[in-house]
Parts: sequence; structure tokens; C-alpha cells
Amino acid sequence: MIDIVCGGQAGDEGKGKISAYLSYKGSYAYCVRVGGPNAGHTVVQNGTSYTLKNIPSGFLNPATKLVLGAGAYTKTEWLLKELEVTGTAERLIIDPHAVLITEEETARERGASHFMSHIGSVGTGLGQAVKDRIERRNVKFAKDEPLLKEFIQDVPELLNKALDRGEDILLEGTQGIKLSLLHGEYPFVTSRDTTAATFLGEAGLGPKSVRDVYVVFKPYITRVGPGPLAHEMTDEKELEIYHTKGHEIGSVSKRLRRIGAFEKTSASRAIMINNCTKIAITHIDMFAGNDRVKKYEDFTPQAKAFLEDLKALSREVYPHPEIALISTGPDMEDTLVL
Ligand code: IMP
Ligand code: MG
Repeated sequence: MIDIVCGGQAGDEGKGKISAYLSYKGSYAYCVRVGGPNAGHTVVQNGTSYTLKNIPSGFLNPATKLVLGAGAYTKTEWLLKELEVTGTAERLIIDPHAVLITEEETARERGASHFMSHIGSVGTGLGQAVKDRIERRNVKFAKDEPLLKEFIQDVPELLNKALDRGEDILLEGTQGIKLSLLHGEYPFVTSRDTTAATFLGEAGLGPKSVRDVYVVFKPYITRVGPGPLAHEMTDEKELEIYHTKGHEIGSVSKRLRRIGAFEKTSASRAIMINNCTKIAITHIDMFAGNDRVKKYEDFTPQAKAFLEDLKALSREVYPHPEIALISTGPDMEDTLVL
């Protein structure tokens, strides 16, 4: 069966950490990543931190094969570097139609003030590569790159045969609902939809084999570019705590993330549109006194109030997911399973 990890806010909810945890503790035969390299997923294990633009966060489990679907966009040099850092070259599989962003596309995106200033694009060239793909010209596919030849396989066939054998797949989505081209806060969105159904399509999977859809939330919202953010924090001292203890600095863009209050409306939409069955909360330790809490009962009243509010919200919204995972610190092991 397939489990999917989605972002419930504006990206950077901690999907990397949650995917790493699920994969490490679980027994997924494949961990699949789709989407582009402007989304950095951070994984910390025993104090070693990895920021990955492409390699699925499930790489920590040596038994899991790593897959980039047809809806993945990468740059050859970044991918090769991450392969080296993670030592995963024997386990990587790439769909022939994953797209390689070219230097020219990166340069065109960086030269366009519409992307860079107005939308606040990360500047990897992803938006430009998506445009080229839609225009059906100048596209460089993974199958066209000699350096990646050994990794190319028919991903839809591979994954569907695995499902037929009863194996499990973890599908790691990127970004979050507020950045969805379809359901987000247009025009301050990324160049694709960022919901569960799209992730499936991008991997070459259908909806009937899905078991759980995890949607990841923080108790607050961050945005690295322009766009709406309710109750944006302006107090410099408070912001600094988020930027230091909370590591709220863009993992790819290096920009200081803007911080806003938790938004119930976008949370409801994330639950509905992704068909969320399990909620994962990260950064609960940004409420003082909740570092590495081991039992639900030990959370502070402030943290409990947030969690109880979210449970109440979930009772109102189909399909009424449970809170399943709570992350209490940056390390993969700092995770409470309910
Ligand atoms: P683009 O996708 O690079 O064009 O960026 C569009 C908007 O989405 C900008 O505000 C980016 O900062 C934001 N964005 C894109 N990818 C991510 C991500 O992975 N995390 C957080 N924000 C992102
Ligand atoms: Mg990120």
C-alpha cells in the first residue's frame, strides 16, 4: 500500500523529518519523491543534518530503494552531490521523464524580475523548466543525460509491480497547500499543485492503493517569500528565537522565514483536499517547555491547548484524521507516536 506525506501549510512543515521517521521505523520497499529542488527537506539523525533537494528523505533506511518520479525536477550536479553525501547510488531509480533543469533555465528564471521579485521564487529554475515542459520545447529529460543512464527505469511499472507483490511505498510530497498552483494563494504559489492526488500522478501511481495520507503542520506558519500570512510576527526578539532555535531559515534559499499564526482555514482545506487520515505535528518544542517530551500528558498547557484545538477542528472536517505523530525536537528520534 501507499502512504503519502503532504505539507499542510506553506512548505517547510517538516515533511523531510516525518518521511525519514516513517521510513526508518517502517518497511517501505520504495520511497518516492516528486516535485522540484526548490524544496529542501531536512533530515537530522544523531546530530548529523542532511538538507536534500532531491534524494527522498527515506534514505536512512538502507533497505528502501529511492525513486524520482516523472514529476520530479532536478539538476544533475545537485543530484550527483546528494548521491555522494548520502551514499545511495546503488539504490536510486529515476523515471526517464524526470526533468533536468538546465543552466539556461536557471539563468532565465534568475533574470526575470517577475519570478524573483514579484513571486519571490527560489531561483533554481524550476518555474522556467515547468514552462518549457508545457511549451514542449527545450526540455532535458533524465533519459537524455549520459551521467544518469544507470539509474533510469520504468518507474510506474516498477512501483505498480511492487504493489502487486504486497510491498509498501512512501510517497514524499513537496511544499504545502498554500503554495499549490491550484488550491493555494495565487499568484504567491509554486509552479505546480502540491496535494496528495497530484503527487500520485507525478509518480505514476493511482489512487486506489493509498492507505494513509499524512499532512504535516507546525503550530505556526512560515513563508520564505511574499504572500498572505495572518498575524505576522514583527517582534525582533521573538523572531530571533524562531530563526535560531526553530531553524526557520530557508534550507535552499537561505532567506529568513517569515512567521505567522496557525491558520485554521488553510488547515481545514489541507485536511480535506489531501484526504488526510493522519496528522503529523512538528516544532511543538517552539512552545516553551516541550523539548523532547516523551508522553502526551507531559506537554505544557499551551501545547495541549493547541493540540486539543486541532483535534476539535479535525472533528469538523472530512475525513476526520487523528493526530498520529508529534515531533518534539529536530532529531528524527525526537518523535512521539500517539
Ligand atoms: P518558486 O516555486 O521557486 O517559483 O517559488 C514560489 C513561492 O513558493 C515563493 O514564495 C517561494 O519562496 C515558495 N516556495 C517554493 N518552494 C518552497 C519550499 O519548498 N518551501 C517553502 N517555500 C517554497
Ligand atoms: Mg523546505
